[in-house]
Amino acid sequence: MIQNLSNSYHTSSKNKPAFKGVRLAHQNFEEFEKFAKKTDILNNLPNIAQPWNYIGEGRHNIVYSIPGNDVFLLRINKKHLDSLRQKNPLTKSENPFPEINIGQKVGQIGKHIQVIIKQNGFSNGIPSRMFLDSYKPTPQEIVPWYIENLKAIANMPQKAYNNLAKEIKTVTKKKYFFDFYNPNNILIDEKKQEFNLVDIEPCVTKIRDYINFCSKKHLFLSLIDNYFMPNVYKSASKEDKKSIRELCKTIKAKTEATPMKKNSLLFALKQQYDKYVYKNLAHDKYQQVKKILKEKD
Ligand SMILES: Nc1ncnc2c1ncn2[C@@H]1O[C@H](COP(=O)(O)OP(=O)(O)O)[C@@H](O)[C@H]1O
Ligand SMILES: [Mg+2]
Repeated sequence: MIQNLSNSYHTSSKNKPAFKGVRLAHQNFEEFEKFAKKTDILNNLPNIAQPWNYIGEGRHNIVYSIPGNDVFLLRINKKHLDSLRQKNPLTKSENPFPEINIGQKVGQIGKHIQVIIKQNGFSNGIPSRMFLDSYKPTPQEIVPWYIENLKAIANMPQKAYNNLAKEIKTVTKKKYFFDFYNPNNILIDEKKQEFNLVDIEPCVTKIRDYINFCSKKHLFLSLIDNYFMPNVYKSASKEDKKSIRELCKTIKAKTEATPMKKNSLLFALKQQYDKYVYKNLAHDKYQQVKKILKEKD
């Protein structure tokens, strides 16, 4: 059943391509519930959470694909992997964004396992996984890979950037948080020429009005993977440095052309940032990147 549904999802462009971000009828809790009953998935969770189904991970969660199901994924809190072996009920989750697809959860299995809507594309930026493994690539080894990643983003049409900005606005308006500090939270769908969001969580911190915004500058930093950019750039050859600068400039221009909030908040909130969580990381990084982009051969 799901197989058929997922097929129709992928061939929907045969008739009329679904509008970017629109959640499709089968991406709902009831469909997953049917699948779960048919496959007895609740009693098979440890078999799913295996390396061959691994999709990705961040600081808090690890995400697995579900064999025979191309619509949903399992997102498991890394601190509670033991809940895979427990018998927990499947419950429906509230969906504050019923109209759009931002990889949100449709249900939960117990407290620590989420059933989320699968997004298409590859995760932007250097995968966190690389830095969790015992073998860590050097910045120099990352250069060619990083340039390919930048090329994919720079080549995306302006419309993709605009849609991304609009989706981020929709999310933040409802006090949900798009974690722009981790570049892996944007997927790049080269086939459909779209950006797709993942990892959208309610903004629960008390200072949410300060951190729950995303300006053009944040988006730019996220897209170019500001964590690694300066170090990777430093170790690149003269020619590669030039490519990195040019690609980043294209991405900057496209980000600046989006209908997104201006940049001022970033600086106005310096004090709050210093005092609270992020130590104004974005501000410092932005200055560093700006300086790099001004470099000449
Ligand atoms: N809905 C989704 N569709 C496709 N891939 C996803 C989805 N959600 C997460 N991923 C992949 O799994 C990774 C980790 O998931 P994420 O929710 O970002 O974990 P964390 O909360 O720890 O940052 C993401 O960076 C992305 O590569
Ligand atoms: Mg994440």
